[in-house]
Amino acid sequence: MNKNSLIRKFNKQAARYERNTRQRSLGEWRQRLLQDVEGHVLEVAVGAGANFPFYNRSKVDVTAVDFSPEMLSRARQMASELGIQATFQEQDIETLELPERSFDCVVSTLSLCGYKDPVKALNQINRWAKPGGRIYLLEHGMSTNRLLGYAQHLLNPAARRISGCHYNRDMIEIVDASALKVVKTERYWNGIIHLIWAQAT
Ligand SMILES: C[S@@+](CC[C@H](N)C(=O)[O-])C[C@H]1O[C@@H](n2cnc3c(N)ncnc32)[C@H](O)[C@@H]1O
Repeated sequence: MNKNSLIRKFNKQAARYERNTRQRSLGEWRQRLLQDVEGHVLEVAVGAGANFPFYNRSKVDVTAVDFSPEMLSRARQMASELGIQATFQEQDIETLELPERSFDCVVSTLSLCGYKDPVKALNQINRWAKPGGRIYLLEHGMSTNRLLGYAQHLLNPAARRISGCHYNRDMIEIVDASALKVVKTERYWNGIIHLIWAQAT
């Protein structure tokens, strides 16, 4: 799928992402993952700002990136409502250039399912974070349950067409193939939901 049709797909989903953000969707996991985020924070594929309610606004200064203008306008609104200090860039993460070694923390939630090359995206994240910088990932991937995994393979082509994301990526394999150093992993929902705490090397 080319980039413009992917952007159009995500633009169309922006209102739903805003509703989910206001309802604190996946809030328990976001809260658990993001409680220590602080400093100069890069959030990639920010969507409608679903993580903003879980940041301590007195401790973060966020650079937020997404290639969907509709998502970004909602994220801007969310940051302003919550008093989160943030700047926004409408950019493709896969071609984005940022100063290297400059962020204390990098946050990526529900984004590795969408990129053409998720390992490359993680390696970029590794470069943008300061050495030892903290990386926070909340991703969905292949289940540990074989039956569900089979269903994820079957559903994958339709999921890709409808929502722009892959259902059957092996997130552990992807993160292990990147330059990140994994500190801790937790999995929920038959292993589909991954919370991963990592460090830049
Ligand atoms: C599934 S949504 C997740 C949004 C948000 N992180 C969350 O947790 O709700 C994926 C987001 O990634 C963005 N995205 C996907 N591929 C991208 C890319 N290559 N560059 C920038 N943004 C991208 C989409 O526009 C969308 O906002």
